[in-house]
Amino acid sequence: MERDEALALLRRYVTSPPHLVHSYATASIMRKVAEHLGEDASKWEIVGLLHDIDYDLVEGDMERHGIEGYRILIENGVPEEIAETVRRHNHMLFGGYNQPVEIALQAADSVSGLIIACALVKGGAIGEVTPRTVKKKFKEKSFAAGCERHRIQMIE
Ligand SMILES: [Fe+2]
Repeated sequence: MERDEALALLRRYVTSPPHLVHSYATASIMRKVAEHLGEDASKWEIVGLLHDIDYDLVEGDMERHGIEGYRILIENGVPEEIAETVRRHNHMLFGGYNQPVEIALQAADSVSGLIIACALVKGGAIGEVTPRTVKKKFKEKSFAAGCERHRIQMIE
């Protein structure tokens, strides 16, 4: 699957700008982590793009999150391997992650929120967010409190 196809598919199902931004951010992080680990960067980026494709559909129902995503992806001809990673990424239903792509997705999904929150503090200027800022804010538990630090730490 190509990045452009994944983007088009995402935009068919997810329309709200914050959720799109979250998907783009998670995809970018997945790509970089894959490059760092010598994994398939194109595939990992697509996993990041598509991981929350059912976001608008399930409207916060965590019993269906990931399950509907899997269904949408399979119906649209996305490879089973990618769809399965998306299905399992709902940590409220699944867990025991041991595949590198699954662990990276847990971390990317969470740290993307932290990075975006850091950028918002800087007036939306993501280019001004440094690793130092992110590390500092990581330790400040009251900052972006919904961002689950333990999921980011899985990647260690
Ligand atoms: Fe997500």
